[in-house]
Amino acid sequence: MKLLHIENLTVEFDTLTGPVRVLDRVSLRMEQGEVLGIVGESGSGKSIFALAIMGLLSPKARFTADYMNVNGQDLMKLTKEQRQSYLAQNVSIIFQDPQNSLNPCFTIGFQLMETLSMHGISGRRNKKLRAIQLLESVGIANPESRLKSYPHQLSGGMNQRIMIAIAIAAEPKLLIADEPTTALDVTIQSQILQLLLDLNRHTETGLMLITHDFALLSETAQRVCVMYSGQIQENAPTRRILAQPKHPYTQALLHSIPHIGERHAQGERLFSLRGSIPPVDHLPVGCRLGPRCPRAAKECVRAPRLENIHGHGLVRCHFPLDGEET
Ligand SMILES: Nc1ncnc2c1ncn2[C@@H]1O[C@H](COP(=O)(O)OP(=O)(O)OP(=O)(O)O)[C@@H](O)[C@H]1O
Ligand SMILES: [Mg+2]
Repeated sequence: MKLLHIENLTVEFDTLTGPVRVLDRVSLRMEQGEVLGIVGESGSGKSIFALAIMGLLSPKARFTADYMNVNGQDLMKLTKEQRQSYLAQNVSIIFQDPQNSLNPCFTIGFQLMETLSMHGISGRRNKKLRAIQLLESVGIANPESRLKSYPHQLSGGMNQRIMIAIAIAAEPKLLIADEPTTALDVTIQSQILQLLLDLNRHTETGLMLITHDFALLSETAQRVCVMYSGQIQENAPTRRILAQPKHPYTQALLHSIPHIGERHAQGERLFSLRGSIPPVDHLPVGCRLGPRCPRAAKECVRAPRLENIHGHGLVRCHFPLDGEET
């Protein structure tokens, strides 16, 4: 059974200048226990996609999909309340910034135990024991005393571990991690990533890892889905993409990975394409990468479809790379 099967998910917002489509017919499948990477520049629609799955889009957003099947249940067939309760049992999300995700007014213990209550664990003693176990499992030392701490008393890395503990308290089938390490120190980043991967390995939780950093996915994700301007551009097994990216955008993302030993100022753009991602209210005609693409030709004014390339995966390009250009 598929863990996730989404068909033609589209999200639009009403703006002062009219409706804008920020996600355009996104279709995606994920197997049970798989690690799937979603990668793309800032503004490509990665977070909107995650929020749409979780039903956390602002009320101003309009979203449609042929279906959104999560662990065997089509979310589109549920009422808002049913959907919320189904998602709470099956999917958890962790965000980039743990300080903003935790409630500063409550202790870590309270927030963890609240989540456990929502998932049917009753009795203060039971909840406390489970909370301690969870903190241990995410590598927090002295878990019992940490239960009494408030988020501001802990480091960013510790708070992110606590967010992960809260996320896994529900024993989700799918964990969505939206830039889970970006706000953290480099040394802590790899520890948190390792924690997520251990969790995936030991509990068969499917992990959707959202990032703008291809390097992070190259050794962790079984499959990578490349997004640009609200559309999937390439979706294929990681080893095939690394061996031979087919989409010029994927190739540019791969070229922008800094080589080991080179130092780059934080936030410095390493991107090898000219220009920047188009604003959602000024999308180019035809291929959305067209104005930036070194391979663009006359045909690219016609929007390319996402098509299957035999032995590779899905690619949205009239002129996919064939190997000599990489
Ligand atoms: N409420 C909104 N109204 C209109 N447009 C929006 C709204 N929220 C997001 N967008 C637009 O949707 C697009 C996708 O945003 P999203 O946050 O998903 O990007 P992202 O890929 O997660 O980027 P980042 O890497 O910076 O997190 C952006 O162009 C953004 O401006
Ligand atoms: Mg985002």
